Amino acid sequence: MKILVTGGCGFIGSNFIRYFLKSYPDYSLINMDKLTYAGNLENLSDLSHSPRYHFIRGDIADAPRVEELINKGVDAIVNFAAESHVDRSIEDPSAFMKTNVFGTFVLLEAIRKVFPKQRIRFLHISTDEVYGSLGETGAFTEETPLAPNSPYSASKTAADMLVRAYHHTYGIPAIITRCSNNYGPYQFPEKLIPLMVSNALEDKELPIYGDGMYVRDWIYVEDHCRALDIVLHHGREGEVYNIGGRSERPNLTVAKTILDQVGKPHSLIRFVADRPGHDRRYAINFSKIEKELGWNPSISFEEGIRLTVEWYQTHREWWKKIKTGEYLDYYKRMYQDR
Ligand code: NAD
Ligand code: DAU
Repeated sequence: MKILVTGGCGFIGSNFIRYFLKSYPDYSLINMDKLTYAGNLENLSDLSHSPRYHFIRGDIADAPRVEELINKGVDAIVNFAAESHVDRSIEDPSAFMKTNVFGTFVLLEAIRKVFPKQRIRFLHISTDEVYGSLGETGAFTEETPLAPNSPYSASKTAADMLVRAYHHTYGIPAIITRCSNNYGPYQFPEKLIPLMVSNALEDKELPIYGDGMYVRDWIYVEDHCRALDIVLHHGREGEVYNIGGRSERPNLTVAKTILDQVGKPHSLIRFVADRPGHDRRYAINFSKIEKELGWNPSISFEEGIRLTVEWYQTHREWWKKIKTGEYLDYYKRMYQDR
């Protein structure tokens, strides 16, 4: 099987590529990535000599480039490429519309142009944020109405609607997955967990938005990759599958768990001004993928945090290199005087 992975130099994409090459010795993968601030070639530097892995720098919104790649013959596309950070979407949404909405449209169009002669399976990686926010109880199912609240989640919702329409109208073999918050190795330190871990390791403050009682459902990235493997091979076309970690935690608990694991005092926590339009709570009902495809998460939150802290402790060079230049400007804009 030949798979085109988009956005493979980011956090989840790089974990997915490593997982797939290891799991399927006869598969080959092409990774098309624009290398934005979030794309990092070092995430896959150990694979650069593999004859089954090819990196191509490119933009999913560049139609001729995408068509050229598809014409080389691929069996499936797994679309991770996106602008992924909610806070950056609040600061400037334009790149989110271009990549997340228009980029997905370009991929679908390229698939449509060769269909049905070439039947390319399209696995679109979406997010639980398309469902909006929950109160104290309940969980998102695949039937929950879509109600995105941030420019990021609105762009992801628009992309999901395009995927749905291309399946419905043209019969494109597409599947959507909607996963909760991932964490683990190679996550860019703008996101909550790697930010907290790396700041704790540097004895810096841990900035917590609002009252810290915002809840996310955390999933270790390898569990997500395993779910994507099963959906890519056995999922039903035209369907949506929710993926969750069964690990709901308020952000304050996450920060305290990390500090305990790193061995630093809780006094490093600093409450800062809230995120505008901040979603209060996410929770995922993933019984569809569990019943239909036999998947469930296997790594507990405590074990996942232990593994993650260990990884950031032993890969200081990786994140220290990121925490320079553009990152420092971003950090200042985001947190100074907050
Ligand atoms: P990330 O920001 O770490 O990586 C995104 C990658 O996409 C980067 O390598 C970047 O260079 C690349 N990219 C951006 N624009 C591109 C373009 N126009 N063309 C080609 N490549 C481009 O993101 P992530 O956290 O790994 O998320 C991957 C996907 O999973 C996204 O679609 C995101 O919406 C989704 N998702 C993420 C989470 C999470 O918790 N991180 C949860 C659910 C769903
Ligand atoms: O739910 C899936 C989504 O999870 C993905 O679709 C997104 O790509 C991914 O970025 C993530 O979005 P969140 O906004 O939930 O993740 P983030 O790590 O930015 O924030 C997690 C929670 O922590 C959220 O309630 C905001 C809070 N937070 C975040 C940061 C960066 C803080 O309190 N302080 C911080 O400094």
